[in-house]
Amino acid sequence: MNEGHKPQDEAKPAASIYSNAIDTDEARAAQAAADRSADLGPDKIDIDAMKITQNHERYTEADHEVWGVLYEKRMRHLRDEGAGSRIFLQGADVIDLNRQRVPDLRVVNQNLSACTGWSSHGVPGYLPAKSFFAFLAQRQFPTTITVRPKESMDYLPEPDIIHDVFGHVPLHADPVFADFLQTYGKAALYTNNPDHTERLARLFWFTVEFGLIHEDNTMKLYGSGLISSEGEGHHALESPDVERRAFDLDRVCDTTFEIDHYQPILYVLESFEQLRDAMVDYAERVLDEAGKLDELPALTSKS
Ligand SMILES: [Fe+2]
Repeated sequence: MNEGHKPQDEAKPAASIYSNAIDTDEARAAQAAADRSADLGPDKIDIDAMKITQNHERYTEADHEVWGVLYEKRMRHLRDEGAGSRIFLQGADVIDLNRQRVPDLRVVNQNLSACTGWSSHGVPGYLPAKSFFAFLAQRQFPTTITVRPKESMDYLPEPDIIHDVFGHVPLHADPVFADFLQTYGKAALYTNNPDHTERLARLFWFTVEFGLIHEDNTMKLYGSGLISSEGEGHHALESPDVERRAFDLDRVCDTTFEIDHYQPILYVLESFEQLRDAMVDYAERVLDEAGKLDELPALTSKS
């Protein structure tokens, strides 16, 4: 069991989850736009039509409590016990994640815009893969804004705001990771080669969702599926059954994954620069093949 998601499943809340923070009519219209976008070419996808308002004042005290309990539990492991990447921890501080309240995306985005120009936006549910990539290509992250029910506190198969915002968004405050993820989005959006699509999905899985990184000669968690899940986080670092391989982009892209149990293979970065540089090389190949080399984004981080 895990909380990782294939890229196209990223924004896919459980149908059973209802949130006061979502306006039903707006969500229905946004979902219809998302569904329609599946047939559109990459330059025709209108990501703004898929966004919904996070009515933050409407979260219940029960929502804030679930967020707070999980925030505290994961931060005990990630910060107090030293399991989390310092880049993740710094990012969580930069975007002002805290125990008291479910994050308000307006505050998150104000803080993010100052360091990387990334932003996060509520979406109603399932996005077609290309629409998800279209968000990333524009330095935007589509996020679910529901909070899991108390009964599903420890495990939820679908993403919610704890997986999406706690798990993913802190790294968007890092200039190097920010460049990596946009470059990834451009390659995934513009390729029309199914082999690249499959290889890019594996790359997402073994980095964004389940990545490990060496910092100060110690292995740390940074993938959102490891960050947001107590079970996966401990298993990734502690289990003797996990094969922890040095990151190599081609090898990662050749590795298949299964989604319904703890991950037996994980890849370890030496730095986020290593990931960004490997991604830029790969994106050059993919975009060149697609006749879209001019879409390769300019890097904002130092090379
Ligand atoms: Fe995810």
